[in-house]
Amino acid sequence: MTDILRLAGVSREYKMDGVTFQALRDVSLTIKQGEFIAIMGPSGSGKSTLMHLIGCLDRPSSGKIFIEGKDIIGANDRELAEIRNTHIGFVFQQFNLLRKTSALANVELPLIYAKIASRARRERAIEMLKEVGLAEKMSNFPSQLSGGQQQRVAIARALITNPSIILADEPTGNLDSKSGKDIMDIFENLHAHGRTIVLVTHDENVAKHAKRIIRIADGEIMNDKGKMKL
Ligand SMILES: Nc1ncnc2c1ncn2[C@@H]1O[C@H](COP(=O)(O)OP(=O)(O)O)[C@@H](O)[C@H]1O
Ligand SMILES: [Mg+2]
Repeated sequence: MTDILRLAGVSREYKMDGVTFQALRDVSLTIKQGEFIAIMGPSGSGKSTLMHLIGCLDRPSSGKIFIEGKDIIGANDRELAEIRNTHIGFVFQQFNLLRKTSALANVELPLIYAKIASRARRERAIEMLKEVGLAEKMSNFPSQLSGGQQQRVAIARALITNPSIILADEPTGNLDSKSGKDIMDIFENLHAHGRTIVLVTHDENVAKHAKRIIRIADGEIMNDKGKMKL
């Protein structure tokens, strides 16, 4: 299987008031195409820091990161943004939808940045909303949708650029257990269709949907269960 992403000896330290705090220590990790991974660990253990590095939202203090074999450490901010736009789909705990635009317009947004013509954009957005079972709600504003439905819009938005990897930081954290289960069913379905998914969760019931669980504590990988061979 192709390596989608590889972290080699990655550390990230934050400097505050002259004090250095090491949020990630010497993390090495390979994510292969089609993997479904949950990252677990206590609050403050470095999960979001790790997700930001995987998502090219941040740079490590030391170590190397490769996306589809390409070293991204030397990339400038514009190149990093381009890598994000073409390779990464983000899903957030708070959904992060634009409140004054319809579900359809929210899903279309990444293709506006990608300068795709409006008709093709619309067709693809409708297709993505169908994929998450929300086509009949495409004209609704986020306030006219339940939390679970808003998160489905956010997943459709993450999918629309056909990213190499979908990253979700606590995607069920703001949902009741039924809606959370529906969202996990969608991730399972995406996994079954070959998508590569990495999600952060506190919840063992959420993590058990994943095929591989990486546990971190104090910025280090403690356990990596279900890792694919080869
Ligand atoms: N921008 C920052 N500046 C300083 N310290 C930070 C910053 N971001 C995170 N940290 C610290 O790094 C540690 C890991 O944070 P984070 O990755 O958000 O953990 P988690 O997502 O597992 O709760 C925490 O102790 C946090 O306080
Ligand atoms: Mg976090």
